[in-house]
Amino acid sequence: MDTLDDLVDDGVSDEELVHELNALLFGGHETSATTIHFFFFLMALHPDYQESCRREIDQVFEDPFQAPDGNLTFEALAGLKYVERCLLETMRLYPSGFAIMRNLKKSLTIDYEGKQVNVPAGTNVVIVPWVIHRNADYYPNPAEFDPDRFLPEECAKRHPYAYLAFSAGPRNCIGWKFGMNEMKTVAAYVLRNFRLSTTDKLEDVALLPNVTLTPQRDYTFMFEKRIHK
Ligand code: HEM
Repeated sequence: MDTLDDLVDDGVSDEELVHELNALLFGGHETSATTIHFFFFLMALHPDYQESCRREIDQVFEDPFQAPDGNLTFEALAGLKYVERCLLETMRLYPSGFAIMRNLKKSLTIDYEGKQVNVPAGTNVVIVPWVIHRNADYYPNPAEFDPDRFLPEECAKRHPYAYLAFSAGPRNCIGWKFGMNEMKTVAAYVLRNFRLSTTDKLEDVALLPNVTLTPQRDYTFMFEKRIHK
């Protein structure tokens, strides 16, 4: 694997290196931090889904092979399938990368309402996961939070590019597995130890189209400590 020194030896300039590091640090932090914020808010709004996550999390914590000394193993994280579906559904509704921009290197012909439309090379194109994720053709009742949309058999019915939380194709997110494990870890420890509720409603907090999708203010949470026997 290339180290930073190898990259410098390969002729990568300091400026390019700074761009790469910025992409890694920014792409790796802000995205997962805002997603987990939205996830906890949706869990607070939907106590039934929160409880289903907690049941799955409790099972894992109570198995000494999956959580030796109370520490989750990678296998245990992989087994948190319901939590995973809730995170995927969170990112469907609130994709931190709500718009993805590309400059076309080659011209592109797209089918638009039965007409062939040519988009010339050099055009700046914006792909908007926020809109695609709310298309009722792919996601019936799109405004509704429903983690079962991410059951394997439901995913198999959709075009693979109908879900773009981590983008898709050759320049998709390189850190998505790490990001999912990071978010599952935070979700598991918080929901294991606290019940979350909120006095906010979805419409109380505007969403800002910053570089990532950002709530205008933090949501308000109440944490009720759980006592484990
Ligand atoms: C919830 C977590 C994450 C989400 C939702 C997310 C989302 C995305 C999206 C949508 C893109 C495509 C952006 C574009 O093309 O304009 C992207 C690219 C990228 N992500 Fe993530 N990401 C996450 C976590 C991470 C983590 C943890 C890392 C690194 C440790 C990371 C590193 C990157 C990098 C380096 C790229 C650029 C890849 C390229 O251009 O070839 N991401 N991510």
